Amino acid sequence: MKKVILGVTGGIAAYKAAELARIFIRSGSNVQVVMTEAATEFIAPLTFQTLTTRPVYIKMYAERSDAEIRHIDLVADADLLVIAPATANTIAKMACGLADNLLTTLYLAATCPVVVVPSMNVNMFENRAVQDNLEKLEERGCHIMDPDSGELACGVYGRGRMPEPSDIYAYCRSVFLPDDFKGIKSIVTAGPTREPLDPVRFLSNPSTGLMGYALARALSERGADVILISGPTHLNPPAGVKIINVTTAEEMYESVVSNYSRANLVIKAAAVSDFRPLEPVDHKVKKNEAGLLLKLTHNRDILDELGRSKNNKILVGFAAETGDTLKNAHKKLLNKNLDLMVANDISDPGAGFAVKTNRVSIISRDGEVEQLPLMDKEELAHEILNRIVKLLQ
Ligand code: CTP
Repeated sequence: MKKVILGVTGGIAAYKAAELARIFIRSGSNVQVVMTEAATEFIAPLTFQTLTTRPVYIKMYAERSDAEIRHIDLVADADLLVIAPATANTIAKMACGLADNLLTTLYLAATCPVVVVPSMNVNMFENRAVQDNLEKLEERGCHIMDPDSGELACGVYGRGRMPEPSDIYAYCRSVFLPDDFKGIKSIVTAGPTREPLDPVRFLSNPSTGLMGYALARALSERGADVILISGPTHLNPPAGVKIINVTTAEEMYESVVSNYSRANLVIKAAAVSDFRPLEPVDHKVKKNEAGLLLKLTHNRDILDELGRSKNNKILVGFAAETGDTLKNAHKKLLNKNLDLMVANDISDPGAGFAVKTNRVSIISRDGEVEQLPLMDKEELAHEILNRIVKLLQ
């Protein structure tokens, strides 16, 4: 998405479009903002002008002599037109083919993908006229992003909230991705588990869940049904993904196993604790009553269990190693009856826990190893899916 036209219309969520512009810019896009007159009542053009370092276009006709062809110029080489927020009024004009302002004119002249992000009061959104207009736009090839549910600016609860800018960005990106996982029911596990010693202490590890969440997002962007079973993290679940929150390895085990029969694909990116305290205590252990020896017992190995009733499901594991990475990872792959193992040496700086990047090797059943360069976990998620899709075919 080199050149993005961001259309902003007059809704209260217009302020969120500023953050959306920033996200596009941060990811390397050139952003040209086009506002309706009504939008300028909600947010100043100067905000967008400062963020994008470009003039903001509002009026159809301006003083410049080249103004008459401006709309064609703007949209001719655009990769994406995204209208966020899109009001009921602008949606209606688009559905009717009206071109009474610069933005609706641009829409008619656009040949690039168009993303529409409706944002309005729940009753307006559910009104038959708005729904019919959205349906028309969808039929004509626009990508309509579902609004979120929650508290709306007018104080009522319901559907109509503009989604978070990061989710809108992910949705826009998905427009350019293949839907090669359509119809695939997948389970992704992510994050650490916590094994309680007493009500205020637990055993855990530094996993933040970034890799698993990136995989869940990438799968959803490529059309899969995704259940994300997550240990405790601070991440927001990706849009369109069903999230199940768990705390302990045993809870993760129960949750994965109970969803397994319907799945075609399981990716186990979670850092599951192999042990738990043998006798967790139900009250806070006082320092003078604590012994210095901690008795542990093994947790069940979830992947190992899945591998025993694999049939034609695809199973993908992650191996965190600190030495002999490839050999250990391939051994784990065979022992757990997996199709692919993503192995990383967690002593390698820039790879592994709690960093945004990772450097991994992907190992297949026959021991073939593909070493990937250091990359962002979001990008890596798609690289891993590119390997998995070949196995699904
Ligand atoms: N795994 C699991 N259940 C466990 C432990 C691990 O499903 N109780 C999964 C992880 O989610 C990962 C894979 O098994 O996909 C490998 O995990 P890892 O911790 O690298 O290996 P272990 O099998 O636990 O072996 P070790 O800790 O001895 O290296």
